[in-house]
Amino acid sequence: MFSKVKGVADNFFDMLFWTGVQHKIENHLKRYNFSKIEIPMLEYVSLFQRGLGFETEVVAKQMFVMESKGGRSDEQICLRPEATAGTMRAFIEQQSTISTPFKVYSYGSMFRYERPQKGRLREFHQMNIEAIGVHSVMHDVLLIKMLHSLFLEEFEIDNFVLKLNYLGQPADRQEYVIAFRNFLENKKSQLCENCQTRLQTNVLRILDCKSESCQAAIVQAPKLFDYFSAQTRAEWQQLCNGLQELSVTFVHDQQLVRGLDYYNKTVFEFVSTLLGAQSAFCGGGRYDSLAQQLGSKVEVPSLGCAIGMERLLLILEPKRDLLSEKKLPLICIIPCAKEQQALALHMVDMLQAAGKCVELLLDGQTVKSNMKKANNMGAQFVLLLGENEMQTNSVTVKNMITGEEKVVLQVDVAKVV
Ligand code: HAM
Repeated sequence: MFSKVKGVADNFFDMLFWTGVQHKIENHLKRYNFSKIEIPMLEYVSLFQRGLGFETEVVAKQMFVMESKGGRSDEQICLRPEATAGTMRAFIEQQSTISTPFKVYSYGSMFRYERPQKGRLREFHQMNIEAIGVHSVMHDVLLIKMLHSLFLEEFEIDNFVLKLNYLGQPADRQEYVIAFRNFLENKKSQLCENCQTRLQTNVLRILDCKSESCQAAIVQAPKLFDYFSAQTRAEWQQLCNGLQELSVTFVHDQQLVRGLDYYNKTVFEFVSTLLGAQSAFCGGGRYDSLAQQLGSKVEVPSLGCAIGMERLLLILEPKRDLLSEKKLPLICIIPCAKEQQALALHMVDMLQAAGKCVELLLDGQTVKSNMKKANNMGAQFVLLLGENEMQTNSVTVKNMITGEEKVVLQVDVAKVV
């Protein structure tokens, strides 16, 4: 017997809930002019090293890497840990034929080698949303508003907080990074092991480290906002004003940096206390230089986000019945003897053509055992075909919920079930 690999999940009984939620999101996105795309799960490792940064935890520690056979055998490939780099890679490959804004979403599995816990898997699902080729900060307002109304109005989630921060331009951060590093130099021993490395490699990530001692060490640290140019400050103000205009409430979290290096300017996360330690169920931001980092000759300012489906579903669990996709009522057909089997096959055909969900029960030894099976399958109606029904071109219809039984003409059966 085999068991599943650590950190992955089978999904047998939840699919109606999953697809109900997924379709609700997709319908919402379509109203904001996003189109669906698919991108591969396999990409070259170098795409993520370049796009997300060599030093990010996702790239340095969490990738499922494998050797490719044939082709560019010198190149390692991996299971995608996220979808933004792949979407941008695909956009750049077809850039000459695509007009912007290129507003797309994709849905599927992502893979990260992390310690599994509630809301954290090694194979998990994201609804990934990107607006490629959008410059104005008003697009940031619109994307955040779109998510806000999805969570608040469509799903009626009331216990979430939108955390927002502004990382400015690389020029804004250059001086700050030096000041922040200098500040931390003589507090090095207070930092966790990870942050001692980050001090050299990715100092900004120390800002959102969860360790208490790191948080204590940075209480008096210089603030990135104090290093912003007048233009950056004005943009941040525009973002805040736009969101306030649309009644989107947020918390300005100056320590929100996010774990992927491609972000600049706007970063945000939707968090819920219902989720425990893994509290973010959607995260994103602006990534204006990613296209050029991945080889585009021109700048393609862009922004996007991803919704963590497992975490969203944990939050929506109390509304499972309401959100689950509705199944068609099941109709089971039971021929009483071999002589009625051909007629039963015709009836399956006829009812399916009328848009019904039909199951033909043939394998039980007796009508009684087939009736029991229909009941276990949750059938709403059972259609019995016996000698009598065959003679009179009729069928006995049993309503499994009320117990009521009636005989109707075979040509009329689609009207009563
Ligand atoms: P991320 O913050 O790494 O961003 O992931 C987005 C969401 O995916 C998280 O907020 C969380 O809900 C979910 N998630 C992440 N890791 C796991 C895990 N191990 N198990 C379960 N859920 C998880 C990105 O991936 C960016 N590519 C988002 C983006 C798109 N930014 C711009 N465009």
